[in-house]
Amino acid sequence: MPSITIPPLSEDLIRVLIDADTIERKVSELSRRISEDCPDGAELVVVGVLKGAFIFAADLCRQLSVPHTVDFIALSSYDSGKTLSTGNVRLIMDVREDLAGKHVLIVEDILDSGYTLDYLKRNFETRQPASLKTAALLSKPDRLSVDIKLDYLGFEIPDVWVVGYGLDFGEKHRTLPYIAEMRPGE
Ligand code: IMP
Ligand code: MG
Repeated sequence: MPSITIPPLSEDLIRVLIDADTIERKVSELSRRISEDCPDGAELVVVGVLKGAFIFAADLCRQLSVPHTVDFIALSSYDSGKTLSTGNVRLIMDVREDLAGKHVLIVEDILDSGYTLDYLKRNFETRQPASLKTAALLSKPDRLSVDIKLDYLGFEIPDVWVVGYGLDFGEKHRTLPYIAEMRPGE
């Protein structure tokens, strides 16, 4: 991973919830588990969900010890700058790869209501992959509104809005190296 300078906490953030070292250790652990679980000779397609998962997906992939390809999909269920899911998931950009017969791993930044991942799983299942698994860096169990189980999870967090390591608030704070809690009402 590139060496990074840790920027100071800006005023609209309350505290660092998960620091960069802790994230790095967890991502390594998830990568190792994903590699171990991957069937021999499998063609693994890692699908990162844009934009929030772009950093997590990049770090996770670079530590996989099994052959894989990388693709991205863009979905939206939030109006930018709002913190309530509309539950109305839109496909903004599809993957380029044909997923039929492939071992697919969806990589999400965070499971909040769960509508986004639920939509994506259903959508991908119709494309007949050999297997379909899901990984998310974060989950807010108190907010989950659908019955969905992740195969790989980094951290459970409380019901607060978080930014950094790919996650944003109205496009702000996406590239912070840590996960920070946003001050409510910002
Ligand atoms: P869900 O459909 O409600 O599970 O929402 C999932 C999507 O909402 C995630 O992929 C994120 O892009 C976004 N999201 C949910 N909670 C947060 C948060 O605390 N910070 C930043 N983005 C979030
Ligand atoms: Mg997302």
